[in-house]
Amino acid sequence: MCGIVGAVAERNVVEILLEGLKRLEYRGYDSAGVALLQPNGILNRVRRTGKVQELVDALSDQEALGSTGIAHTRWATHGGVTEANAHPHFSSDRIAVVHNGIIENYQSLRADLTSKGYTFTSDTDTETIAHTVHEELKNTDSLLAAVQASVKQFHGAYGTVIMDRNDPSKVVVARSGSPLVIGLGLGENFIASDQMALLPVTRRFIFLEEGDVAEITRRTVSIYDQDGKPVKREIIESNIEHDAGDKGGYRHYMLKEIHEQPTVVRNALKERVGDEGLLSDIFGKGADELLAKVKHVQIVACGTSYHAGMTARYWLEQFANVSCNVEIASEFRYRKSVVHENSLLVTISQSGETADTLAALRLAKELGYMASLTICNVPGSSLVRESDMAYMTRAGAEIGVASTKAFTTQLTAFLVLTVALGKHNGMSEVDQKAIIQGLHSLPAKLEETLAITQGIEDLAEEFADKNHSLFLGRGDQYPIAMEGALKLKEISYIHAEAYASGELKHGPLALIDEEMPVIVVAPNNELLEKLKSNVEEVRARGGIMYVFADKDAAFASDETMRVINVPHCDGPIAPIIYTIPLQLLSYYVALIKGTDVDQPRNLAKSVTVE
Ligand code: G6P
Repeated sequence: MCGIVGAVAERNVVEILLEGLKRLEYRGYDSAGVALLQPNGILNRVRRTGKVQELVDALSDQEALGSTGIAHTRWATHGGVTEANAHPHFSSDRIAVVHNGIIENYQSLRADLTSKGYTFTSDTDTETIAHTVHEELKNTDSLLAAVQASVKQFHGAYGTVIMDRNDPSKVVVARSGSPLVIGLGLGENFIASDQMALLPVTRRFIFLEEGDVAEITRRTVSIYDQDGKPVKREIIESNIEHDAGDKGGYRHYMLKEIHEQPTVVRNALKERVGDEGLLSDIFGKGADELLAKVKHVQIVACGTSYHAGMTARYWLEQFANVSCNVEIASEFRYRKSVVHENSLLVTISQSGETADTLAALRLAKELGYMASLTICNVPGSSLVRESDMAYMTRAGAEIGVASTKAFTTQLTAFLVLTVALGKHNGMSEVDQKAIIQGLHSLPAKLEETLAITQGIEDLAEEFADKNHSLFLGRGDQYPIAMEGALKLKEISYIHAEAYASGELKHGPLALIDEEMPVIVVAPNNELLEKLKSNVEEVRARGGIMYVFADKDAAFASDETMRVINVPHCDGPIAPIIYTIPLQLLSYYVALIKGTDVDQPRNLAKSVTVE
């Protein structure tokens, strides 16, 4: 989604802004722009549709100079992908604004501002911010006061940064619903929508809270809460690697991230899972007491994270004896639901900023859930700050829009949670030990599984000219089939649907022919025989199958079935292992099709608007 970078410094900030935008490219966008307060007092703006590189090229033709500046990557919501709709937006060459989120009442604001004589040059909601601040500056000399008065008029979500040509020493920023992080430098300060943008210039960050407005100069950062009272916010040292944005020799971030999975899972287990069981306080101080009381779990998430939640439901009910519901956040937040006694709300999110998931957490607090836990990958993110407990997945920065290592570390976290809850709810010692041992064996098993790449590359060749596909799984492999289908559609644009294979007869069998490849995940578990019957049903109707199977599952390749053997694995780690070949399949199909693997069309990494 949209990205923001801003700087107030003594040096020329153009390179900092452009590097920041490049580092935000992974979030998905369709145009980019920058505005600089030049030493001659004029606001200089350059905008381009397409990639940040287009903007870089445009800027290289001129001597862009400015020590206060703002920049933006736009993911269109209101108004098409045009240069006129790209940010920054101006009001009379005096006020410049970049904005993430949606100003929902922009139409009435626009009508009102038009009647006051303002001319709109774009179709965006954002331009109303620029004119509203300009209008407020008629009542005050202070940009800060004008922004504070303006935000009271906005409904919806915003993370916004505002510059005034007449006050070049500062930017004023405001956050409501869209994240903003201040980066602290020496004699220079920065603002961004994501800390990744600022890692080359600082490691010290302040995450703004809901309703905060801040004035940032080279040497000062003054923050005010929604009532206008000055507030202090904690300074956090980031430990994200500076070079987390490098591809490390891989052709794509996605491939790098797929191959990082053994390492990040190993990291995720360190100092949390001992030889005999879980170590204490791994969900934070006081968490063990809260977890001991949990009788029901409500999981809420979006996208890939939702699939992790669906898998976890099988584990929590089967092993931990805890009842569990899972729901897509955008549904949960808008329907009336029943809160069970001693219910734990669990949100899952790579980014920690997904608008619907965050809204679901806030709703759960109003509904009276006993406690909230987030399983999240980004320290300091909104979900982490607003939840009672946070369990970090430690996957490291994930740049590819299609989530891979975040998913497997989320599943790893859920196995840990299964044991943590199960031990208070009659989970057998044998089951606890089996999961602990499974977790310890996971990094090596993942390495072994990644080695089957060659077979999958060949398979992808056969697959790439297809327009539709069906993924089948049973039990805790059903959500893995769903995740496999999601990966394929996200990056190769092949229509893919997943079914619990027992549902085949209830509709999808009608679709089977040689043009509809069927992908089956078939570990050697108690549901194998049932799955084999489903495979036969497909075969009898002339379907072509690609089966990822345990070698002991006794599937053999023939003219209608390609079998790819997956290393043997037992118990609940199997869904994590079977995720790998499906990720690789999507990757290689996308590679053959020549799509933009890391930034697939129309998608965003972090969905900060609902
Ligand atoms: C977007 C991303 C997905 C992700 C989903 C939820 O759609 O492209 O990869 O699964 O958001 O994001 P979250 O950060 O909450 O896990």
